[in-house]
Amino acid sequence: MEQQGGESRRITIHHPDDFEGMRRAGRLAAETLDMITPHVKPGVTTGQIDRIIHDFIVANHAIPATLGYRGYTKSSCISINHVVCHGIPGDRVLVAGDILNIDVTVIVDGWHGDSSRMYVAGQPSTKARLLMDVTYESMMRGLSVIKPGATLGDIGHAIQTFVERHRFSVVRDFCGHGIGRRFHEPPNVLHFGRPGEGPVLRPGMFFTVEPMVNAGRPEVKILDDGWTAVTRDRSLSAQFEHMVGVTEDGVEVFTISPAGLHKPPYGV
Ligand code: MF3
Ligand code: CO
Ligand code: CO
Repeated sequence: MEQQGGESRRITIHHPDDFEGMRRAGRLAAETLDMITPHVKPGVTTGQIDRIIHDFIVANHAIPATLGYRGYTKSSCISINHVVCHGIPGDRVLVAGDILNIDVTVIVDGWHGDSSRMYVAGQPSTKARLLMDVTYESMMRGLSVIKPGATLGDIGHAIQTFVERHRFSVVRDFCGHGIGRRFHEPPNVLHFGRPGEGPVLRPGMFFTVEPMVNAGRPEVKILDDGWTAVTRDRSLSAQFEHMVGVTEDGVEVFTISPAGLHKPPYGV
């Protein structure tokens, strides 16, 4: 996700032919998240998961977009429990009850495919299960309002109201982003807001919706590695990410799981 702040630049309007490139990139991102599902279990390290993801992406003639991105050296971000986003894969061993977000971005023929889902090692706590369910549902509610003439504020409002109704909080410091031939481009897609505010959606806009939801307060801090964002109060955090295109009459989601693995429990 993109860290917030920065000027408002112009939002790219893509040609109808460009949707096909985004379908292929989005599908491979989703297939990568499907593929990794049975590997997420107690005893595995996040570094091992990242290696499997790397090899799968490369075997599919694609490039992991995060490799070398602003100095990042891994093919995925893996964010466990109170890690909000940008967790760096390494020697951390998964233990029963961990919840984790795995975020992958692939480049296929120059087009970026960016998606993330939550996973569980073993069984989650009741609270963790609710947090993941609310986060997934908030993303889907955000997606459901996308159509030409709606605004980014409509999306943020749909997400925020649902999350806060459940007494969880929306992270403010990271947002979704425009995407396409570049990994991150305008607009910033805030996961909070007011109806009717912000840029108006037009056919041909490509962006991500990727709410981060905390069980406690919304504040985050970045660890000394310069990447890992954690909740300041150490409460659990969850995130899902889809990548979409605005169509003439609504929205096309490019990153739907071909295997039907939308949210935990995946039963594999
Ligand atoms: N995939 C993340 C996003 O959703 C960005 C990760 S950038 C990295 O935008 F460098 F941290 F990998
Ligand atoms: Co993203
Ligand atoms: Co992502």
